[in-house]
Amino acid sequence: MYFENLREYVEALEKAGQLKRIRTQVSVDLEIAEILRRVMYDNDGPAILFENVEGYDIPVLGNAFGSLRRLKMALDMENFEDIGERVTELTRLKMPHGLLNKFKMLPKLSEISDYGPKSTGSGPVTEIIEMNNPTLDNLPILKSFPNDSGRFITFGITVTKNPETEVRNMGVYRLQVIGPKKAIMHWQIHKRGALHFQINKEKMQKTEVAIVIGADPATVFSAIAPVPEGLDKFLFAGLTRKKGVDLVKCKTVDVEVPASAEIVLEGYVDPAELNTEGPFGDHTGYYTPAEPYPTFTLTGIMMRKKPIYLTTVVGKPILEDAYIGKVIERAFLPLVRLFQPEVVDFSMPPAGWFQGMAIVSIKKRYPGQAKKVMMGLWGMGQLSLTKILIVVDHDINVHDMNDVIWAVTTRSDPKRDTILIENAPTDTLDPASPLLNLGSKMGIDATKKTREEGYERPIQEEAVPDEGTVRLVTSKWNEYGFGQQNTI
Ligand SMILES: Cc1cc2nc3c(=O)[nH]c(=O)nc-3n(C[C@H](O)[C@H](O)[C@H](O)COP(=O)(O)O)c2cc1C
Repeated sequence: MYFENLREYVEALEKAGQLKRIRTQVSVDLEIAEILRRVMYDNDGPAILFENVEGYDIPVLGNAFGSLRRLKMALDMENFEDIGERVTELTRLKMPHGLLNKFKMLPKLSEISDYGPKSTGSGPVTEIIEMNNPTLDNLPILKSFPNDSGRFITFGITVTKNPETEVRNMGVYRLQVIGPKKAIMHWQIHKRGALHFQINKEKMQKTEVAIVIGADPATVFSAIAPVPEGLDKFLFAGLTRKKGVDLVKCKTVDVEVPASAEIVLEGYVDPAELNTEGPFGDHTGYYTPAEPYPTFTLTGIMMRKKPIYLTTVVGKPILEDAYIGKVIERAFLPLVRLFQPEVVDFSMPPAGWFQGMAIVSIKKRYPGQAKKVMMGLWGMGQLSLTKILIVVDHDINVHDMNDVIWAVTTRSDPKRDTILIENAPTDTLDPASPLLNLGSKMGIDATKKTREEGYERPIQEEAVPDEGTVRLVTSKWNEYGFGQQNTI
């Protein structure tokens, strides 16, 4: 069953023993962040609700999605690939021949229309509306690391509209608070919010935005997910939770937000108002240096009477965002396969902060196919930011680093099988790239080489035991005095 809002999810977490309430007074200044990081590093630590935050009367929720177990609850699914399957199913829908078959399609079509967002006049988020003197001062916004340049909203969902297509978007971009009505918007250049801002900037226009803090889990997930361009993320959220999201209009900007959100900050981002954002202790494990970013101005606040402030903290992996990244990796595999059908599996190891490295296994049929897959993936959405791509054969388990290293060291020759591409887009946060947003890529073709690919030596046969001996040894295993062993 889907969750309509964040608090229903919190209740479910508590019932499942997955939530800890902390009633001791805690500070937004470094203390909460340090507690959250410790709990997150401790594999499978619970979600935490800080109920007594010094100086604020709003509780803070952290680590809400910090385990695969919780994410399965949050999205109500065992297999995250279902999400991608639902999206690819849309691309496969074709009108059948014959009246009867058309009738058979009707339930499917009505199911899909049920996933779309619906506008309503009001909702829990409109319980409190402040348009006269809205302020960020009442929100328990955290400072996370000692050398952070200030306090950051880290889990706000920024809602924008593409000025040309009107397609709505949601993206989680952090905001550094610099005054009661001002915060710096850290939408990186490759992201969709930054694209909408750029289009408006060329017309000398401000970008209207709403920042949603705390929403139903599917909406939060959709804001982080690299959804294909042109697909409304509210529709994606509906597809994820199999129920459309109810939306209400903001009061001071022309933007719609989830009616059941906890807190909504309304305002605009002005291209003429740049400020220096950072340093910020980031999910690479390093402080991202200060850079200029545009500024958000607050024009209104809508919120529930007793809102929950949803937050997260980042730092050297593996923290909460790594689990969300794992779900994205699984959810998007069907979409990767849609464009690269030879792909069998795909992994973005969390220690590589996701954009750092990806490993993909393929069913290879023709020479050079691994390179074709690399080029395809580097051309797909946010995968264009992946720095190192390793392609292996389908017999390699991409989630087992020993298996991957074995493939790289036995099936690739560095000179023949490595490609380097200079001056390519790279993740804004990449601490090693020579320039901001521009670096090189490395592709390692660790698939078995064929004659056509220039492998002149006799192809070496993999050394594996014969079936008869395997059966014999397995059947006599107890007799040898070793005790039980899994059969092979
Ligand atoms: C906790 C968290 C914080 C994030 N902070 C930022 C950020 O400050 N800037 C940014 O561009 N992306 C950030 N991201 C990644 C984006 O949310 C993600 O790339 C998303 O797909 C962007 O959506 P878009 O392509 O629709 O813009 C963050 C993700 C998470 C999970």
